[in-house]
Amino acid sequence: KRPAGAPDKSLARPVTKVGVVGAGLMASQLALLFARRLEVPVVLTDLDQERLDKGVGHAHGEIDKLLAKGRVSADKASRLKALITGSLSKDAFAGADFVIEAVFEEMSVKQKVFAEVEAVVSDECVLATNTSSLSVTEMAAKLRRPERVVGFHFFNPVAVLPLLEIVRGEKTDDAALATAFAVGRQLKKSCVLVKDAPAFVVNRILVRLLAEIVKAVDEGTPIETAERAAAPLGLPMPPFVLMGLVGPAIALHVNETLHAAFPDRFPLSDNLAKMVAAGKTGVYRPDFTLDPEVVEIFSGG
Ligand code: 3HC
Repeated sequence: KRPAGAPDKSLARPVTKVGVVGAGLMASQLALLFARRLEVPVVLTDLDQERLDKGVGHAHGEIDKLLAKGRVSADKASRLKALITGSLSKDAFAGADFVIEAVFEEMSVKQKVFAEVEAVVSDECVLATNTSSLSVTEMAAKLRRPERVVGFHFFNPVAVLPLLEIVRGEKTDDAALATAFAVGRQLKKSCVLVKDAPAFVVNRILVRLLAEIVKAVDEGTPIETAERAAAPLGLPMPPFVLMGLVGPAIALHVNETLHAAFPDRFPLSDNLAKMVAAGKTGVYRPDFTLDPEVVEIFSGG
């Protein structure tokens, strides 16, 4: 059944090569998913060789895990590894039909990246953004062909979570949108078309919840108590564990975007900002004990 608002399938263009801008954790998960489900070459780009090697290495490491679990054959594992390559130059995107960006969540950075990609790809190539909360319309606005831009928002962990929010910008055309839905289906995701509104739909719900829990901790509720109080909500993981999975910097960024759009609904937390400024990647340490420095920040230290 065609998802609500999706254009006719026949408008979709074939995708034979994919580009991924960025080689961070999200980007490398995306590279693996595209290679595994589309079985086409996937090229990652980033600013330096170290990040690139790390991103490609992470995707290859995940393929080894799939092999060890018997989810892919040895033959398929080596084919997948060969499909995922890295390049420091966006020229390597020449011939790509679908490029997705997963770079730093800053509008000007994303606009610049898209302009650079547009200079090397064909007019038919779709440019997708995995932004968590920024406007797809604004991201496309300065391009020669803004009609090729779609929002393509995944959830962490990308390999496991089935939902994909697809966003139509003001100028997105039916061919780009139909291609996005066709790719989403090939990726075996459950695709929904959402409005180009701040943080789309899922993050509005999720961040509202997280922002209120963080606020309760700001106001003096101990972290352990807030986690226990949230347990009856039946979330797949406790809220502060989830914050570590998403990354506090991303959580803060989405919250700031939502606070700007709906100040009455999304409280800001100075303590969350302090935690991000201190370079903390979670409330919990890898052994799942609370990080005492984070606890100190939240107790006004
Ligand atoms: N990367 C890849 N695979 C992972 C993973 C990860 N980080 N974490 C878990 N998995 C895999 C496991 O390998 C396992 O796969 P298998 O069945 O092949 O062995 C499978 O997921 C289930 O894992 P577990 O049995 O260890 O654990 P759980 O059953 O507890 O599930 C979970 C783990 C899927 C992460 C679950 O806790 C969950 O759904 N958590 C909530 C995640 C969530 O809400 N994400 C959305 C964040 S918002 C977002 O991303 C948007 C952004 O814009 C901010």
